[in-house]
Amino acid sequence: MRSIKTALLGATLIAGVGATASAASADEVNIICSADNSLCEKLAATFEEKTGTDVSMIRLSAGEAYAKIRAEARNPQTDVWWGGTGDPHLQAANDDLSAFYKSPMLEELLPWAVAQAETSGFRTVGVYSGALGWGYNKEILAEKGIEGPKCWSDLLNPALKGEISVADPNSSGTAYTALATLVQLMGEDEAFEYLLSMGKNVSQYTKSGSAPVKAAARGEAGLGIVFMHDAVKQAEAGFPIEVVAPCEGTGYEIGSMSLIDGAPNPDTARVFYDWVLTPEAQNLMAETGSYQIPSNKASTQPEAAPKLENVRLIDYDFAQYGSSERRRNLLARWDMEVGAAAN
Ligand code: G6P
Repeated sequence: MRSIKTALLGATLIAGVGATASAASADEVNIICSADNSLCEKLAATFEEKTGTDVSMIRLSAGEAYAKIRAEARNPQTDVWWGGTGDPHLQAANDDLSAFYKSPMLEELLPWAVAQAETSGFRTVGVYSGALGWGYNKEILAEKGIEGPKCWSDLLNPALKGEISVADPNSSGTAYTALATLVQLMGEDEAFEYLLSMGKNVSQYTKSGSAPVKAAARGEAGLGIVFMHDAVKQAEAGFPIEVVAPCEGTGYEIGSMSLIDGAPNPDTARVFYDWVLTPEAQNLMAETGSYQIPSNKASTQPEAAPKLENVRLIDYDFAQYGSSERRRNLLARWDMEVGAAAN
């Protein structure tokens, strides 16, 4: 049950959103959204409608978003960066690109979302969570007589040559989660050996993290390595996609949100930040087929969301893999070894 204090804070906040709406209809906020576009658009449109704020929003993969915010450090153009995997958000915090903010909403959030805020010194916060896995096209694999891969080791099967799609970890937070997951499961050298071998089966390294399973759904690839909820979205839409949690264990994301330091509209940005952490806003996720686990304790856990208690999750070290040095070094090694072999 929510405490009275929490409930009161929630009430003050909602009233605050309304008050801001009438007082400042000319407000504007610039958002980078790193989740699926349908969800990004839904959040922007609902906030606009609720508050009269002029929302300018672009969708960028998490690695690209980090790069843009870094490039604009002297003259920030972005107010809020919403969604996308937590590691690049932590890196932005590490680089002092994001602003300190302790939202009154923190009290309403699940422990993993608050832990993300604490790890960053309150420069980011958890907005959703989801486990990494893959989705494969049952029809394509059956036609080729390939048994559905259940384990990371199955992805090395030479019969899968040209059938695997995964994103590039430089642009995609999903693919960076995959890289960091394999390093934590196997050790760094073995993980890079694995990625090189698996690379022989990869048809394409995409820019966006969810593109691989969209390609598998359309029959353009046999299998896409993605967050399980992105595979569920395709299965729910009626495509012949089987969702897999790898047998050896897997990593997960704490999708995050950060306010940008020195942003042009910090007050409106905080209004959006507080609103988007409410159950009202988080419940919009499932409406657009986004089946991550929302971070507010009172939000509805979507029926279709993969049940994390049935997934063998590793103890993902967010502080280490979100640190600037670790992420930079792993990406540089990926370029030199895996990326170079793909060209
Ligand atoms: C998809 C997932 C999100 C994830 C995001 C990262 O949209 O649904 O849960 O945070 O990918 O995107 P990226 O393109 O950076 O991999």
